[in-house]
Amino acid sequence: MKKAVVPIVMKRDKWTQYRILRKGSSLAKRLPETRLLQKNHLSKMLHQYHNVVVKPRDGRYGRDILFIKRNGATALRIRNEKDVTTMRDIDQLLQLFRKKNKGPGYIVQRRLQLAQVQHRPFDIRIMVQRQKDPLSPWKVTGSYAKVAAQGYLVTNVTSRTIPVLEALKLAHIGGRSLLVKAERIALLAAKRLGEHYPELRQVGFDIGIDRKRRIWIIEGNYKPDLHPFRHLQDSSMYRRILWYKEH
Ligand SMILES: Nc1ncnc2c1ncn2[C@@H]1O[C@H](COP(=O)(O)OP(=O)(O)O)[C@@H](O)[C@H]1O
Ligand SMILES: [Mg+2]
Repeated sequence: MKKAVVPIVMKRDKWTQYRILRKGSSLAKRLPETRLLQKNHLSKMLHQYHNVVVKPRDGRYGRDILFIKRNGATALRIRNEKDVTTMRDIDQLLQLFRKKNKGPGYIVQRRLQLAQVQHRPFDIRIMVQRQKDPLSPWKVTGSYAKVAAQGYLVTNVTSRTIPVLEALKLAHIGGRSLLVKAERIALLAAKRLGEHYPELRQVGFDIGIDRKRRIWIIEGNYKPDLHPFRHLQDSSMYRRILWYKEH
């Protein structure tokens, strides 16, 4: 009788992923500092970075993400999608989460000053895959840039997708060598996650490039949306991605 293979559950959990990636020594510096949302962490990080992002651990396609800025000594300026509110202090803000927190909770992360195309932040999706053979190496199979819609800080709500090299050029921050560097980082991160999850065969990374050209890993998606690849002019990426899924 065949033994049933118990699949390892790859949970959509940003906090678990952060802890796995942080153990890869050369990756730690590519991860924006992240903590579980707690008063002391939020307070310390706001003090240190002035700008932080609060996100649900389970990820909701860009929804429910708050961008928080320290406004003077105590007040906070909070942006969610297109809304801006002010709160008097951290306690008032945490009260909000206590009310709405039904899920696994939230993380607080240093906010990156993402590079921009026409005053809109963008980040890049890098698709990394490996074949079914457990010895096969990870490969970059596709990429595109996501430019935030007018007025948004997240790039996944009604964003525009364009080739990465075009975005880098429009943002005046670099060319192919920057993309190659980002791809190398995505490959290292996939390798690290793959060590942890032997069943893992694909990761769609959200990679941020800040205004100082530093490359950051925002997150890796285990079930990335492939639709944007289908709509790129260059159809070779989409075909390669499907080929890797089959082999
Ligand atoms: N620390 C951050 N600094 C700046 N922008 C961020 C940060 N974290 C997320 N974003 C923006 O929000 C988007 C969604 O965040 P992400 O962590 O990918 O969550 P989701 O699971 O909702 O996709 C990112 O693609 C990026 O554009
Ligand atoms: Mg994302």
